[in-house]
Amino acid sequence: MKISSSQPLRGKYYHIKTFGCQMNENDSERMAGLLEESGAERVSSPEKSDIIIVNTCAVREKSEDKLFSYLGRLSHLGKKRDKVVGVTGCVAQLYRNSLFTKNESIDFIAGPDNYRQIVNIILEVRKEKRAATQWSRNWQNIPYESTVHENPVSSYVTIMEGCNNFCTYCVVPFTRGREKYRPVKLVLDEVKFLSSLGYKEIILLGQNVNCYQDPDTGEEFFLLLRRVTEIDGIEWIRFITSHPKNFNKNLANTMNENQKICRQLHLPVQAGSNSVLKRMKRGYTLEEYLEWIRLLKSLMPDICLSTDIIVGFPGESEKDFHKTCDLLEEVGYTNIFSFRYSPRPLSAAGRYQDSVPLETKKKRLIELQELQKKIQLRQNKQKVGRVMKVLCLGHSKKDPKIYSGRNEGYQVVNFKADRDFTGNFVMVRITSCGPYSLRGEAVNNALFSLSRINHTTESSYRKD
Ligand code: 5AD
Ligand code: SF4
Repeated sequence: MKISSSQPLRGKYYHIKTFGCQMNENDSERMAGLLEESGAERVSSPEKSDIIIVNTCAVREKSEDKLFSYLGRLSHLGKKRDKVVGVTGCVAQLYRNSLFTKNESIDFIAGPDNYRQIVNIILEVRKEKRAATQWSRNWQNIPYESTVHENPVSSYVTIMEGCNNFCTYCVVPFTRGREKYRPVKLVLDEVKFLSSLGYKEIILLGQNVNCYQDPDTGEEFFLLLRRVTEIDGIEWIRFITSHPKNFNKNLANTMNENQKICRQLHLPVQAGSNSVLKRMKRGYTLEEYLEWIRLLKSLMPDICLSTDIIVGFPGESEKDFHKTCDLLEEVGYTNIFSFRYSPRPLSAAGRYQDSVPLETKKKRLIELQELQKKIQLRQNKQKVGRVMKVLCLGHSKKDPKIYSGRNEGYQVVNFKADRDFTGNFVMVRITSCGPYSLRGEAVNNALFSLSRINHTTESSYRKD
């Protein structure tokens, strides 16, 4: 169906609820842009909206459970008024039509590649309830100009999507499909556009960014990264997620040689035991992983590293688990994202016996997180007294003199200042810390032009 006027959703209110990763957040921002271009207005509560979109994550059982409890709460809304309720993203892709029978209030479902047609899908559904189920696998140009950004200074830029790796625990290759790369030119156009709007930080996004290749020329990720650094106005560049199997010296050197690329890296290891890594089909040994860590630290001693860990993978022994704990001590991550293993549909490990009892998984997760908390506190204390560059993101609602931002390593820094630095880089002296954030005060004449002084990190990319 064709859109009949340029603003066919004028007068309608919409609400988007997002579960899951940065990719989903980014997709939601783009869907919001398309809806607003078509005349719809955002409201913060689903009760007041005509269009409710739930953008879903299937990566872990827990995220899926959260979705179904949210949908349960929505059920009464869908029936009361003439609302359109849509489920988009990975759960939609995974369960497709069976979602309609699981939940009465759903009017449409659309996979992760379909959000670009969101307006047309809604218009179809409004004509005939529960009509549209769309599945396509085309990598189309992303409508970036209309994106509604949640953050006014830092933006995600998708460079690739999907995954060819099939780690045995993971559902992503089945929901996001095989790897699809966005052409270099389109990535650069979007970054230039963001720079013209005043964005200072760019986070290049993809399931495996370091597998990136320009679809026409085969140009690799580190070359794309170099080109992004040439764009004026963008001062900090990050990228997520990198796969240790595809890491290479060119990327490490590019990070080292370029001031704009933050000295911060998220490199998911998943486990510290080679037998577990093998059964996860990760494609590297612990020793190979540690080689990359050594190289990165030797080039950039101040680099801030973060990782993902799964505890309780089928067959994980107490000894295996302690190897993961030893790894945390050895690397000294600034932050970790840790999860209890849950079997996922279609994944190879979903067919293994889920042999580690739930209680053991819970105990291991707590032990791991307690250990990491101590490591973080120890490392953060060493930063007290330093002056570091912080990108200020806003001020505390409770106390307008307390501001919050991130340092080069993506660590949260809360600081006192007697003027508003929102959207600017500012020099902050660290005066105290906790395990999860640093506290400090803006130094005199704190506004900052680009140069590298001290920086440290706690990366908190993943939301759960
Ligand atoms: N169980 C637990 N954690 C998982 N992850 C992915 N699949 C699973 C699963 N089945 C975690 C991994 C991955 C992160 C995004 O989610 O650590 O890196
Ligand atoms: Fe999942 Fe592994 Fe692909 Fe990451 S690399 S998305 S964990 S299959």
